[in-house]
Amino acid sequence: MNPLNYDKILENLLVPLKESQIVAELKKISQNFTSKREKIGEYVESKEMVSAYSCFYLPTNMVKFKFLMDQLPESLRERIGELDFLDIGTGPGTYLLAHQNYFETDNKLFGVDSSSLMIDQAKKFLGDRAQFSFGLPPDFSKGTLFFGNSLNEMKLDKAIDMVSKTSPEIILLIEPGTKHSFALISEFRKSMIEKGYGVVFPCPAPKKNCPVSGEEWCHQVLRTVHEPEVERLSQLISLDRKIMPMIAHCYLKNHEGKNHRALFYRFLKETKHSFDWQVCLEKNEKLVTFEIPKRGMSKKEMKEFSSKNVGEAFDYVVEKELGPDKFRITLK
Ligand SMILES: C[S@@+](CC[C@H](N)C(=O)[O-])C[C@H]1O[C@@H](n2cnc3c(N)ncnc32)[C@H](O)[C@@H]1O
Repeated sequence: MNPLNYDKILENLLVPLKESQIVAELKKISQNFTSKREKIGEYVESKEMVSAYSCFYLPTNMVKFKFLMDQLPESLRERIGELDFLDIGTGPGTYLLAHQNYFETDNKLFGVDSSSLMIDQAKKFLGDRAQFSFGLPPDFSKGTLFFGNSLNEMKLDKAIDMVSKTSPEIILLIEPGTKHSFALISEFRKSMIEKGYGVVFPCPAPKKNCPVSGEEWCHQVLRTVHEPEVERLSQLISLDRKIMPMIAHCYLKNHEGKNHRALFYRFLKETKHSFDWQVCLEKNEKLVTFEIPKRGMSKKEMKEFSSKNVGEAFDYVVEKELGPDKFRITLK
């Protein structure tokens, strides 16, 4: 099926639902995700909630995969298209569908989930295209392991253990863009580096200590528009999905080479002459400021520039050092 088509999602739900029922179930799910975290696992035990989850979170999460792929070097992207792909906590098959949609290759797709209802739902969407189980395949050293909004639902030790058991070549994750999630993923990142992985994205160097701490958290922000039916659900449950904070990472086994790129951490200000960004760099232990002159930019470029996504990686050339932590640069 074309996973982006809302009508096809509706046709393949575990139980048929009217819009009013979808909205009521989504309100319960969203409450459990935020204020009632002790009830976080409940939605996977009801056919109605699994179906409602599929109507809203499946299409809105799926699009984050393209964002992450677009940040990676082309050779690595191609490798992900070739390797077997194992989606941990696949839910309704969200990132299997995203992978299938993005690559359209015939590599093997595997979905793991502890909920039998989620697996039933994923099977309805993916048919024979993927294999599903409650447990891990024993050796996955020639594969990509993926966590999509699942690492923050399972204990950190469990996720690290899954990596140890499968020993994948590449690890990808897309998790909520929250402070809580960042704390967890920072621990995961440390552990992956200890295991010999290097960070390809978002960090400018594979094994650099993260300069973000305290009240800050490093995340990306994706701006997008969904199908009208999904936008309507978003309004009815008051959950914005046009601007989506997320934390996406990519790790590669034995990755030592420098990434060299800078990471757009935060927009600071726009003046008459320039844009100021806070960025994370390969060498500096602190976040630094980039002043990007408007000189030479067309109106269109300036407009595109001011709507850049936080968290994107980019290449640059330093024009002038303005201070220990401030540089005037041009984009490459
Ligand atoms: C928030 S959903 C994410 C679903 C999908 N990846 C997405 O992003 O839309 C989390 C999923 O992780 C599954 N899960 C939680 N703990 C798990 C574990 N220890 N092993 C396997 N799956 C788990 C849940 O059953 C649920 O389907």
